[in-house]
Amino acid sequence: MAIKQWMGLFLAGSSLASALPSSKVAARTTDAATEFVDDLVADLTAAYNDHQTRAPQCAQESTLVVDTGYAKYRGHYDSASALNHWKGIRYSQAPTGSLRWQPPRFPALAPSAPVTDADAFGSTCYQHTPSLGGGLAFPGAPGSEDCLFLNVVAPANATKLPVMVWIHGGGYGYGDGSSQDLTQLINDNGKTFIGVSFNYRLGAFGYLASQEVKNNGVVNAGHLDQALALAWVKLHICKFGGDPLKITIAGQSAGAGSVMHHALAVNGGLGSLLFDKGLAQSPYLPYQPNFNDAIPTSKYYAFSAAAGCPSSGSVFSCLVGKSAADLELASLSVTASSTQGAWGFWPVTDGVYIQNRPTAQLTAKMVNGNKLLVGYNAQEGQIFVPGPEVIETQADLLAWMALWFPNLTSAQLNSILAINPNSALSSASGPRFETDGLNTGGFNAINTSPAGVGQRQRGSNIYAEATFACPAYWLADAYSSNPGKSSWLYQFSVPFAYHGADINAAFGPSTPNLPSDITLAFRKAWGNFIVGGNPSIANTIANGASSASPSAYHPASNWPVWDQNAPQFVNFNTTGGTLALFENPLAGTFPQYEGPGIKNAISVQNANSWEAFRGDRCAFYKNLGPFMPN
Ligand SMILES: *[C@@H]1O[C@H](CO)[C@@H](O)[C@H](O)[C@H]1NC(C)=O
Ligand SMILES: *[C@@H]1O[C@H](CO)[C@@H](O)[C@H](O)[C@H]1NC(C)=O
Ligand SMILES: *[C@@H]1O[C@H](CO)[C@@H](O)[C@H](O)[C@H]1NC(C)=O
Repeated sequence: MAIKQWMGLFLAGSSLASALPSSKVAARTTDAATEFVDDLVADLTAAYNDHQTRAPQCAQESTLVVDTGYAKYRGHYDSASALNHWKGIRYSQAPTGSLRWQPPRFPALAPSAPVTDADAFGSTCYQHTPSLGGGLAFPGAPGSEDCLFLNVVAPANATKLPVMVWIHGGGYGYGDGSSQDLTQLINDNGKTFIGVSFNYRLGAFGYLASQEVKNNGVVNAGHLDQALALAWVKLHICKFGGDPLKITIAGQSAGAGSVMHHALAVNGGLGSLLFDKGLAQSPYLPYQPNFNDAIPTSKYYAFSAAAGCPSSGSVFSCLVGKSAADLELASLSVTASSTQGAWGFWPVTDGVYIQNRPTAQLTAKMVNGNKLLVGYNAQEGQIFVPGPEVIETQADLLAWMALWFPNLTSAQLNSILAINPNSALSSASGPRFETDGLNTGGFNAINTSPAGVGQRQRGSNIYAEATFACPAYWLADAYSSNPGKSSWLYQFSVPFAYHGADINAAFGPSTPNLPSDITLAFRKAWGNFIVGGNPSIANTIANGASSASPSAYHPASNWPVWDQNAPQFVNFNTTGGTLALFENPLAGTFPQYEGPGIKNAISVQNANSWEAFRGDRCAFYKNLGPFMPN
């Protein structure tokens, strides 16, 4: 299959070329996902062994022309960022026609291919917004089914630099490899690493699931695209000046959920074949059914009907025969009728790449890679939870929870309410402000935020913890007390820290609430982890240049490794500045503090007692894992 074909070239001149398993040319005997994974493992193992024995120099060519074996791409120096960029590199054959819902494949070798200018992003994958409620969702940027492209940004003359591969977020339904500009993160870290970003199949193209899809192709196709892109980096990044043994996979939201899944892939049996470090910002963990459970199956048939195919029985070949535009409209239609704030399709337990529920496998600590930096934001729930016009009473809250947690019984939903007690402090007219995490005066994230109080805030905290914050804790736990592995955790709290607010902190552009002291500290934490394997930041950076004593000792310079028995984390916050209202199209209008006068307020905190014992609630949600299921 295609990966192996490519490896022949990769290993040319190396004694390992002859070690490639010849069984790979045998006829298909297993399902497509199993074959894909077997090839991935065999070929990356060969590449790993090759790198161990041959120790390639990994120096970037001064011509910036990179030969992938199937195409030659010329990169360009960008004077604004003072970095070299390669955009729109194809990493897979187009997943169209008979390759729909099939594993991605490297392009066929073409030794005499002409040089192509890699100066424009490739087509984005078909995408759309989440459901906006009332049966509404809208298309995103114009997409194409032929969308499997990636981008590399590298310091000039890079030699054996560490690599960050960025997996964009967007609920597995939105976004592309150009959504975040990696250049500021690289430059604020002194041009010490290379960045890669890429597109993967979204919506029904990437995440359609049912027994019939599995029988005829693959479920979680979008995740296999990601795995192929990671394999591509492993095999090719040396030519851009990157070190294939120092790869951090990073992502936000669904991108961080993807980092979690690659950490869990193949039962944690991949070791460091795809990456050695993971960076997961707001890991998104919605319920995760088996590929052939009732919910994905009913979506499969709703999708089929919307595409003009039958609503039962064998529909796969009918779907493969439809136009891409028809399928995109069907994907949009299934998403539109989903719960407000949700997309229609997301990863499932597929039995091959993802073999278990995350809560079960993270507890068993069966994870790939050696190191993990994981974080979440103080106000993760706000953009997903409707306002008091929908959630006013406890009955309203329960009805809304039943939509987000469709497989929980009413007794289980009530048990969630019981661990999120709605005290007298949370009257709908109560004071609204950012809590400090320390339960000062009895105020905590269960009862108060700038966005809500009462039942609405209760729902917000439930959604934030069940879907983002606790998955971050569980991921950190999986690398704790696990030989050879370690993890670090942070909360991003700079007001107003809604879901996605950290994106500006990591990548820019700068906003009035994020002066350079705090963005530099945040970016250095990421960069120090990517480059040196430890997110601790220098005293001067943690205190900030505008602090009264920048070089005073700061505990973030000795950021505690996560210990699941006594977990501590770093809280990224600011203090000072002028109160101003900030309008977010998704979250509404909220207070934030704007410069000048903002200073860093970064601290080390106790993760168990935080926000009135978040640690206990995360343990509770983990026990609900079999029922969520997740
Ligand atoms: C990269 O190397 C070239 C020579 O190969 C040199 O002209 C150029 O100045 C170097 N660039 C940087 C940023 O060091
Ligand atoms: C949801 O719960 C029902 C029983 O209440 C069970 O039969 C079904 O398998 C569950 N679905 C998932 C995805 O776990
Ligand atoms: C973050 O800082 C703001 C002041 O800028 C404060 O009101 C809020 O309580 C802090 N939150 C956390 C979690 O540290």
